[in-house]
Amino acid sequence: MNPVAFIETKRDGKENDLSDIRELVDLVTKGDVADYQVAAWLMAVYFNGLSGEECRIFTESLARSGKMVRFPENLSPVDKHSTGGVGDKTTLIVVPLAAACGVPVAKLSGRGLGFTGGTIDKLESIPGFRAHLDMRDFIAQVRSTGCAISGHSGDLAPAEAIFYELRDVTGTVPSIPLITSSIVSKKIAGGSSSFVFDVKCGSGAFMEDQRSALELAESLVDLSASMGRGSMALITDMSQPLGMWVGNAAEVAEAVDLLLGRGPDDLRELSLRLTASMVHLGRPSISLDKALSLAERSLDEGKGYRKFEEMVRSQGGELDRFQEKVSRREHLSRTVREIYAAESGVLTRCDARRVGDAVRLLGGGRLSKKDAVDHGVSCQILRKIGDAVSAGEPLARVYFSGEGVRWEEARAGLVRAFEVGEGAKPPKLLLGSVGPREGD
Ligand code: URA
Repeated sequence: MNPVAFIETKRDGKENDLSDIRELVDLVTKGDVADYQVAAWLMAVYFNGLSGEECRIFTESLARSGKMVRFPENLSPVDKHSTGGVGDKTTLIVVPLAAACGVPVAKLSGRGLGFTGGTIDKLESIPGFRAHLDMRDFIAQVRSTGCAISGHSGDLAPAEAIFYELRDVTGTVPSIPLITSSIVSKKIAGGSSSFVFDVKCGSGAFMEDQRSALELAESLVDLSASMGRGSMALITDMSQPLGMWVGNAAEVAEAVDLLLGRGPDDLRELSLRLTASMVHLGRPSISLDKALSLAERSLDEGKGYRKFEEMVRSQGGELDRFQEKVSRREHLSRTVREIYAAESGVLTRCDARRVGDAVRLLGGGRLSKKDAVDHGVSCQILRKIGDAVSAGEPLARVYFSGEGVRWEEARAGLVRAFEVGEGAKPPKLLLGSVGPREGD
C-alpha cells in the first residue's frame, strides 16, 4: 500500500481499497506507519466519511488487531455501551438486573475521561473490587454468575487505542464513522453476541443535538448488523445529569439505592428500558413490553440487588464495608459547599457538562489518562429542570477535599450551570430508539 496515494484517495472523496484499509490497521498496530500520515487520513475521513463497506472492514480490522474474547457456543452474552454522560450509573444497575432476568451479560467498561465518568472508576470505590479480570476469569464469571464487569484490557483491539489517541490530538474525534468503528470494534473484541447502545444527547454528551444522536444510533445498529451482531440503540437525554448524584462513590451508592428500590425516577426509568432492551436481545422470544415488565418485577423483588451483590463478591468486592461507609457518609469527601439560587422561579437549566467539569476539576475525574481520581468528590443535585425554586435555597451540594483555587473555579462553573426562569418542563428522557435489528 502506498500511504500517500491512500490518503489522496480519501482526500478526494473516493473509496479506499478494502485491502489497503486492512493493511493500514496492520501497519498502525505494528507502529510501521508515520503518525502524520495516519492523522492526515483521519482528517480526510472526518471530511469525507467512510462507506458502509469501508467502515465494516476498518472496524473488523480494529477488532482483530489483538486478542478477542471467545465465549463457548452455548453462551451468548449481551453487552451494553453508553456513549458517555454525567451521573450515568446505569451500567451498575442494568448488568445485574438483566442477568437476574436470565440474560448473560459480559460488560467491558472504560475509565472516565474528560467530563464524563467511567464505570471502572466508580466500581473501584468498593473496597477490594477487582475491576480488571483476565479473559479466562471474565468468561468463567459470566458463566457462573451470569454477569461480569471488567476494565477494557489493552490486549483487546489495541489498534483502536492507537487511532483514538491520534484522533484525540488531531480534532478528529467527532466523526460518526470513526466513533462507530471505535465503539463497535471494542464490543466485537469483547465477544458478546448482541449490544445495546445508549446514545446520549445534550450538553453532557458527544452528540449535542438529536439529529446527530440519531445518525450515530443508526450507524451503530447498522454496523453491528453488518458484522452479524443484533443490537438496539436508545437515544436518551443528557442535558442534565442522570439521577441526583455525580461522582464515583456517590454514584455507586445511588445505584445500590435504586437496586434496593429507593432511587430517583429518571434513573429507574432509563435502567428499566435499557434492561428490557438487553433482555429482548438476549431472549428474542420475550417481547420488549414483556421484557420491561420482567425487568420491573425483578427490580422490585430485589433480584437485581442480589445479583449485584453476587457479582461484586465474585470480583472480590466488599459491599458490606462500602455500605457501612455510606451509612456513616464516609464515602463523601469532607469539605462541603453549596450553590444557591439567586432568584425564585423554575429551574430552566442544570447543565450536565458544567456539572461534570466541576466534579472533574475538584479531582473526581481526570484531565489526562494517567491522573488518579478522588472517589469521594461528588456533586449532589438538589433541584432539576422543571422544579420550583426559591431565592437563596441550595441547588447543589458539593463534596471535595481541601480548599484552594480549584473550588473557586469549580464554583464559578456550577453557578453558570444553573439557570432560573419561568415555565420549564422536565426534559423527555427517551428521545428515540433504533432497532432491534438482527445481525446479517
Ligand atoms: N467513545 C468511544 O469509545 N469511541 C469514540 O470514538 C467516541 C466515544
